[in-house]
Amino acid sequence: MSLDALFSPLTMGTLAMPNRVVMAPLTRARASAASVPLPIQGEYYAQRADAGLIISEATAVDPLGMGWYRAPGIWSDEMVTAWKGVTDQVHAAGGRIYCQLWHMGRLVLPDYLGGALPIGPSAIAGEGETMAPPTADYDGGFLPMKPYVVPRAMRQSDINYLVAAYGRAAANAMAAGFDGAEIHGANGYVIDQFLQSKTNQRQDGYGGSVENRVRLLDEVIGAVTAHVDPGRVGLRISPTSERKGMGDANPAALTEAIGALAQRHGLAYIHLIEPVASGFMEKPDYPVIAHLRAMFAGAIIQNGSFDAPTAVAHIEGGKADAISFGRPYIANPDLVTRLREGHPLAPANFDYAYVGDAKGYTDYPPYG
Ligand SMILES: Cc1cc2nc3c(=O)[nH]c(=O)nc-3n(C[C@H](O)[C@H](O)[C@H](O)COP(=O)(O)O)c2cc1C
Repeated sequence: MSLDALFSPLTMGTLAMPNRVVMAPLTRARASAASVPLPIQGEYYAQRADAGLIISEATAVDPLGMGWYRAPGIWSDEMVTAWKGVTDQVHAAGGRIYCQLWHMGRLVLPDYLGGALPIGPSAIAGEGETMAPPTADYDGGFLPMKPYVVPRAMRQSDINYLVAAYGRAAANAMAAGFDGAEIHGANGYVIDQFLQSKTNQRQDGYGGSVENRVRLLDEVIGAVTAHVDPGRVGLRISPTSERKGMGDANPAALTEAIGALAQRHGLAYIHLIEPVASGFMEKPDYPVIAHLRAMFAGAIIQNGSFDAPTAVAHIEGGKADAISFGRPYIANPDLVTRLREGHPLAPANFDYAYVGDAKGYTDYPPYG
C-alpha cells in the first residue's frame, strides 16, 4: 500500500505543512507546580518536530479553568516568557507548534480553587473522578483521585470574563511564538459543556437550541481571531463523546452548527475526535464527519486510534486532510519516520503519562 497520501504536503489555512501527520495534544504534566512551562517541555516537543504540525498539550487560559497539577497555563507574562523558550526550541528543530487553549469549566476540583466551586453552564457534575493536587506528603507518584463536584452555573459576567480570558490567552500565545492556536472544544471541557445538550440546561441565550448552545463558542472564536489570523486557528471537537458525563441529543445537528460557525469565521481547520476503533473514546455508532464536511470547507484533522493504513484510507477517501496521533507519540518521538518506513512502534509506559520528569517523557529513543 502506498503511504504517499500521509506524507504529501498540506497547506492548512495559511500554514504550510511538510506532511499530514499531526501530533495530537497530550497533557503530560511536566510544567512547574505553578503551571509555568519548563525547558524539558521544549526538549520533548523539539524531539517531535518533524510532525507536520504539533498541537501543544492543553494550556489553561485562566486560573479558574486550571484543575490539573503541573499542566501549563498561558495567562501570565512569566508563562509567555517560558513558552517562548519552548517554541524557540521547536522552531530551531524545524517544527511548527500551535497552542491548545483550554478551560476545564466544571471539571476543576475545588482543591485547585482555594475551595471555591468550579464554573460550568449548568449546576450538573461531571461523571467520574480526577486527580487532586498533591498534599504535603506527596512522593512524586500517583496523585489522589477525587470525584467531580456540582459546579456553580455561570452568570453573564462569568461568560464575559471567560471570553476575555480566551482573548488574552490567544494574544499571549502569539507573543510566546506559537505558530497558531487550537481552541479546545472537545473532551467535556467548558466549551463542550456548553455545546452538548446533556450538560447545558440553561434557559438564557446560551442554552436550549443548538443556535444558543454554540453561542459561547462563537464568542470565543471571535475573541481568539481578534489576535490570531483565522488561517492559523483551529477548533477541536468530540461531539459524539459521552466520557465524563457528556452527551448530546443530536450530535449530527450540533456538528453542522459548529461547522457552519467555523466556516463563517474562516477557521483553518477542525480537529475531530471520531475514533476508528474504541480505546481512548468509544467508536461512535453514527459518525458525524459527513455532516462536518457538508458545512465546513476548511481542513479536517481526524483523530482516534489511527495507524498508517487507516490514516491513508481516510485521507484518500476524503474523510480527512490530516490525521493526528496521540498515544503513539508518547513513546515514538520519530513517529513520522517510523510510519513512513514501516518500523515497529515502541509501547508507551502509561505509568509516566501524567507524572514524573524526564523518565517516560524525553527518554524514548528514536528507532534503532
Ligand atoms: C496522556 C494523554 C493526554 C492527553 N491530553 C490531551 C490534551 O491535553 N488535549 C486534548 O485535546 N486531548 C488530549 N488527549 C487525547 C488525545 O489528543 C487523543 O485524542 C487520544 O489519545 C486519541 O488519539 P490516539 O488514538 O491517537 O491516541 C490526551 C490523551 C492521552 C492518552
